[in-house]
Amino acid sequence: MMQILRTVAELRTRVRGWKADGRQVGVVPTMGALHEGHLSLVRAAKRGCDRVIVTVFVNPAQFNNPEDLAKYPRTEAADAALLAEEGVDVLFAPGPDEVYPAGFASQVIVSGVSAPLEGERRPGHFEGVATVVTKLFGMTQADRAYFGQKDWQQLQVVKRLVADLNIPVEVVGCETIREPDGLAMSSRNVRLDPLSRAQAPALHRILQKAAQALRGGAEVAPVLAQAVAEVKQAGFSEVDYLELRTAAMLEPATSVAQPARLLAAATIGDVRLIDNIPV
Ligand code: PAJ
Repeated sequence: MMQILRTVAELRTRVRGWKADGRQVGVVPTMGALHEGHLSLVRAAKRGCDRVIVTVFVNPAQFNNPEDLAKYPRTEAADAALLAEEGVDVLFAPGPDEVYPAGFASQVIVSGVSAPLEGERRPGHFEGVATVVTKLFGMTQADRAYFGQKDWQQLQVVKRLVADLNIPVEVVGCETIREPDGLAMSSRNVRLDPLSRAQAPALHRILQKAAQALRGGAEVAPVLAQAVAEVKQAGFSEVDYLELRTAAMLEPATSVAQPARLLAAATIGDVRLIDNIPV
């Protein structure tokens, strides 16, 4: 039976019992509105760990835009049903006051990898993510934590902070799950109007085409410029970035000699989508 817990004290009691029995604990941090992408992380955690905690917390600290926070979908009953079906042991769904009690004053800041791309467009976002993820590791004491490659930069930020702060958790990065037409699954996809939903898969298609050209030895700058133009032609109103970066440090990459990643953020309708693929 899955338990829904809302306080850190209850969670700690539960985890202490598991650890005393020698159980390996996995955690899947989420903001809810769960889809197959999240569930793929849950299944990986079930395969890799004896006990699985899924956290659902819409973290105000990582929303740089109050409207985005207000509009973020909240579907706890449906989420709980899905997680129970997957055999999750604990759904940890604390309220904001449990995570950020009065007097809260600390922040985790990861320099370098947090700075470009999403860091530039969403000031404060990765500080909010790094802080809450560090807290979730402290609360759950998990041995392994599962994150999606969909949020590639976030995954690199989490790996960095775990290494830098000596947090005893193994970070596992899992493949991006896509709709049959290639659109990366995202909790924000439900906000796409029918036309935008039909046009949105172009982002992934164009990234794939660009990756193929780069692998074939094409020069980076013209390939990226062409891809940006195509994304706009496909119906996106704005392309925040579409860039080739080194895979781990996310520094600008001028060739595909080293492991590199194409990353993009673009707005369609009033929904900002991100995607990335290896090159
Ligand atoms: P959220 O957007 O709910 O995503 C939770 C986890 O699911 C993240 O690790 C994300 O990369 C992964 N995920 C989302 N869509 C996916 C897809 N299509 N395929 C594979 N994995 C996917 O990311 C967050 O929440 C928050 O920033 C969080 C880490 C919970 C901190 O608040």
